[in-house]
Order: sequence, then C-alpha cells, then structure tokens
Amino acid sequence: MYSEKVHVANHPLLAHKLTILRDKDTSTKDFRELVSEIGMLLTYEATRDLPLAQKAVETPICRTMAPTLKGKKFAVVPILRAGLGLVEGVLRMVPSARVGHIGLYRNEETLEPVKYFCKMPKDIAERDVLIVDPMLATGGSAAAAIGFMKEYGCANIKLMVLLAAPEGIERIQKEHPDVEIYCGAVDEKLNENGYIVPGLGDAGDRIFGTK
Ligand code: PRP
Ligand code: URA
Repeated sequence: MYSEKVHVANHPLLAHKLTILRDKDTSTKDFRELVSEIGMLLTYEATRDLPLAQKAVETPICRTMAPTLKGKKFAVVPILRAGLGLVEGVLRMVPSARVGHIGLYRNEETLEPVKYFCKMPKDIAERDVLIVDPMLATGGSAAAAIGFMKEYGCANIKLMVLLAAPEGIERIQKEHPDVEIYCGAVDEKLNENGYIVPGLGDAGDRIFGTK
C-alpha cells in the first residue's frame, strides 16, 4: 500500500511493548522505559543500511578480516518534547551519534507546528540524520522538522516514530518523498482533535507525566 520508503516493524516483541504503551493504566515510569526500549528496537531497523568496511582483527585463533562500521557521521534529532523519550534508545545502539534538538509544538486549534527551539551540531550538513518523535499524526511536525533539516543542508534524512496515522505517512510521502519512514505500527485514523486512533494518547504528557 505504501512505497518501499515506509518500513513498518513486524516483530512480536515490539507489538507486545506497543500494546502496553497503549494501555491508559500504564504508569509514567513504565511508559518512559518502554518508549526508550522500543526506540532501541526501531533503531536496529533504521540503521540496517549503515555502510561497513573491513578491518583486520586478531582473534585468539587467527588473524582475519571482519566488518566494522565505516564511521559515517550520524545524528539523532528529537522533536521536543516527546522525541526526547527516544534518544536514549538510539544512543544505546549508536553511542557516537551527535544530538540536535528541534522544539515544536502543535497549535491545538490549527494543528500546525510552531517552532520554539533549534540547536544542531556544527557539522550537521555532513551527517546522516534520524529525526525521532513517538507520534506521526497529521504529519505537520515531522514535515516541518524535515524541512528545517533540509535547510541546514542535510541530504540523508530518516524519520522514526512509534505510531503513525495514515494521514501523516501520506503527508510525508507527498512533501518529502526522499525520506524513509520507520514506524512501530500504523493505526487506523485521526480523530477530530488530530489524535491517533486507537493510538496511545498524548505521548509527551505520558512520557513526562504532565497530565
Ligand atoms: C506531538 C508529537 C508530535 C506531534 C505529532 O507533540 O510528539 O511532535 O504532536 O502531531 P502532528 O503529526 O499532527 O504534527 P506535541 O505538539 O503534543 O508536543 P509535545 O511533544 O511537547 O507534547
Ligand atoms: N500527538 C500525540 O502525542 N498523540 C497523538 O495521538 C497525536 C499527536
């Protein structure tokens, strides 16, 4: 149904963890820990095409040539606030990654994103970028974040989300067809307030316990 740029995780562990996230009775502590864990699992998928080089290594048995990451520059860019919940999981998989931050919130009436913060590593234009946010709803926030990264000169941008609405995927594919999307699940639809259905509610509030 979607192009080959859209990767929906298909793994029982991830599906199980997402179900716990959806449960309105899951505690803030458990929610936060699960977001981080799922972030790690999704990063595994989103980094599948990282380039490798061969290097010589002495095992206890013999000398051999073995694969090693080419060390391509990489940055994770969370969309504040909720995207922060995914950063730890990404860094556990790619410890040398730099972190850039984009602060956006959705205007609750127009649902359009408003930018309030932006701080990037100096050499961000040379880096592969993984934008992270738990929710891709209308796609407004992610589309704006991708647009900002393109203005910085970034050429290789991926988007990683826990849950996506079909509307959000379609918007990213229309506005940024070059961007690969990695998501834990694609839900049914958006409701009249722009929330993902069935979804998990407000990801930022649930990660930070603000409601
Ligand atoms: C949420 C979420 C995304 C955005 C998704 O953030 O984390 O950034 O909404 O919606 P969209 O696809 O329709 O743009 P929110 O604006 O609630 O801010 P927060 O992270 O500070 O809670
Ligand atoms: N933002 C959220 O946190 N949840 C949604 O369902 C939609 C946007």
